Amino acid sequence: MTMKLALIGCGTVGSEVVRLLHRQETDLTSRIGEPIEIAGIAVRRGGRDRGDLPVDPSLFTTDALGLVNRDDVDIVVEVVGGIEPAREWITTALRAGKAVITANKALLAEDGSALAQAAVDGGADLYYEAAVAGAIPLLRPLRESLHGDTIHRVISIVNGTTNYILSRMTETGAGFAEALEEASALGYAEADPTADVEGFDAAAKAAILASLAFHTRVTVTDVYREGITEVSAADIASAAEMGCVVKPLCIASRDGDVVSARVHPAMIPREHPLASVNGAYNAVFVEAEAAGRLMFYGAGAGGAPTASAVLGDLVAVARNRRAGATPMPPTVYADLAIRPMGDV
Ligand code: NDP
Ligand code: HSE
Repeated sequence: MTMKLALIGCGTVGSEVVRLLHRQETDLTSRIGEPIEIAGIAVRRGGRDRGDLPVDPSLFTTDALGLVNRDDVDIVVEVVGGIEPAREWITTALRAGKAVITANKALLAEDGSALAQAAVDGGADLYYEAAVAGAIPLLRPLRESLHGDTIHRVISIVNGTTNYILSRMTETGAGFAEALEEASALGYAEADPTADVEGFDAAAKAAILASLAFHTRVTVTDVYREGITEVSAADIASAAEMGCVVKPLCIASRDGDVVSARVHPAMIPREHPLASVNGAYNAVFVEAEAAGRLMFYGAGAGGAPTASAVLGDLVAVARNRRAGATPMPPTVYADLAIRPMGDV
């Protein structure tokens, strides 16, 4: 038997998924117990030269929904982004009982509960480790390993692009526009980098983190959001004079029955562990009742690191499918009040 995968999107992340699948083919087959074969790859520009991508060019299609609906497709990997038509592809696949892996934080933060319901309806797995903090194993620890504990607070840097820009402005005196151009060229920024620099991407991640950490429903509109476009060279210099650096923070906390989530740039002392997280790296502190303080650190953006998270999910859902395991249940148990800035 062979498990068939539909890849929707073959840009920065999707092309690295193809490369990693190719490189890891033998190991993945032994880890899963059967081979994974790409059934098709949906893209926007069908005729585009895909360079040296190790894949049969006849697999490319511009009909993503047609590919999702093919009878022989078992697993769908969505790495396009945005709300529509991604929502239609994902819900169609899940309702048809096909496992879905997505890196789409924008959609998860807007309508994660509808996706979770579609997964329940179809009895299918929905995994999305790549949606927050790139390569860092973070969401499954929150969904699984820490499920027996009570999480009080998550303090993090979860947007690689803005951390890269602020790091470059701090370390080399680079201008904002120049640093943003570099981040885009390195594959860190979203297709529309406004999502990064205005804080929408981090707000989406804050909503996902808060939902998982506090087992409640937090959407992107619940998150207080401030981007980094107003941070000037003078702000960075003043911070330095005070022994601080400017970092793009994302904070989600729970106080009793109230949850708050916010993203904004902030000055933090140079000695703070988050101060030394530079470039497109991300770091996440989780403060839990019994576990105490945990720190997760690693590459938060870029094609290859993100593909690593996607393939980790792929092994998990493929194994579950082979074993006929029950899909992971949704994690919403509590209906908590939400105040974007908390009580400050
Ligand atoms: P890219 O813009 O590099 O790639 C997008 C891909 O989607 C392209 O292959 C494009 O086709 C394809 N596409 C666009 N519209 C359609 C459509 N209507 N039908 C079929 N295919 C379509 O994005 P990224 O790879 O950077 O990001 C993909 C997802 O991963 C997003 O959700 C993003 O937020 C998320 N993500 C990205 C990370 C990163 O570091 N880049 C890290 C973590 C998550 P074509 O090639 O023809 O243009
Ligand atoms: N644009 C995102 C970032 C990609 O810079 O963090 C990773 O989610």
